[in-house]
Amino acid sequence: MSIERLGYLGFAVKDVPAWDAFMTKKLGLMPAGKAGDGALYRMDQRAWRIAVHPGELDDLAYIGLEVDNAAALERMADKLREAGVPFTRGDEALLQQRKVMGMLCLQDPFELPIEIYYGPFEVYPDPFLASAPVSGFVTGDQGLGHFVRCVPDAAKALAFYMDVLGFQLSDVVDIQLGPQLSAEGHFLHCNGRHHTIAIGELPLPKRIHHFMLQVNTLDDVGHAYDRFDAEGLISMQFGRHINDHMISFYGRTPAAPIDVEFGYGARTVDASWTVTRHGHISMWGHKPLLLPEQG
Ligand SMILES: [Fe+2]
Repeated sequence: MSIERLGYLGFAVKDVPAWDAFMTKKLGLMPAGKAGDGALYRMDQRAWRIAVHPGELDDLAYIGLEVDNAAALERMADKLREAGVPFTRGDEALLQQRKVMGMLCLQDPFELPIEIYYGPFEVYPDPFLASAPVSGFVTGDQGLGHFVRCVPDAAKALAFYMDVLGFQLSDVVDIQLGPQLSAEGHFLHCNGRHHTIAIGELPLPKRIHHFMLQVNTLDDVGHAYDRFDAEGLISMQFGRHINDHMISFYGRTPAAPIDVEFGYGARTVDASWTVTRHGHISMWGHKPLLLPEQG
């Protein structure tokens, strides 16, 4: 029994207008109205994928992890009970806001709120229309994308995400993010996407180092690079990652030093995958321009 995919991300941010421009003009997401105090943005046929709420946190506020149906949600509830992980049920108001049919609310070992849910709302009659030149995002069975979780104790985080939530190890990478910043990264999958969550003991002031959105074409990445570069917001230049083979760049979000990775061309994992170890994060490129320590 495992989580099937990353379904959604919610941010609580100080500068909501900057995030709205970032979501639409930089990333190309489609505005999709509001739910409660959150502005919703679409990437595909789902009613929403990213929510932006006003808040002093200026960080990732919650993540939505998807299972396929009500029975799977109950099996996950049993697993949480067995593991001694406390959880509550999402009430009707929260289910309406998140546009899902059932939910368990919990936290990871370092207080990141997690919503495990089933039954997301889809809106096929209203096709996805990108707000910037993006031909489309790779989601579907692979979910929204991935993020890198900064934790003080990787072993404790891995025990939770792997033993309780069912994520599996893809590989381990010695990450150098700057002259003063290196860590061992554990890259975890729950579907064909090479990693949905990566865990690193990165001493950064935010819950995540970056989140990643994957697009359909290399030109989508190139056009986005130009949009970020025009405002000096490239934090890592074009490069290709050594483990998932993603061709990507990193740009700074308005909640610095959180970055977004915008990528194309990743390989997927299957049942024959072999766990490996790497001494570098990239085959080529990904030269840092803005260091992660820089707010
Ligand atoms: Fe990434």
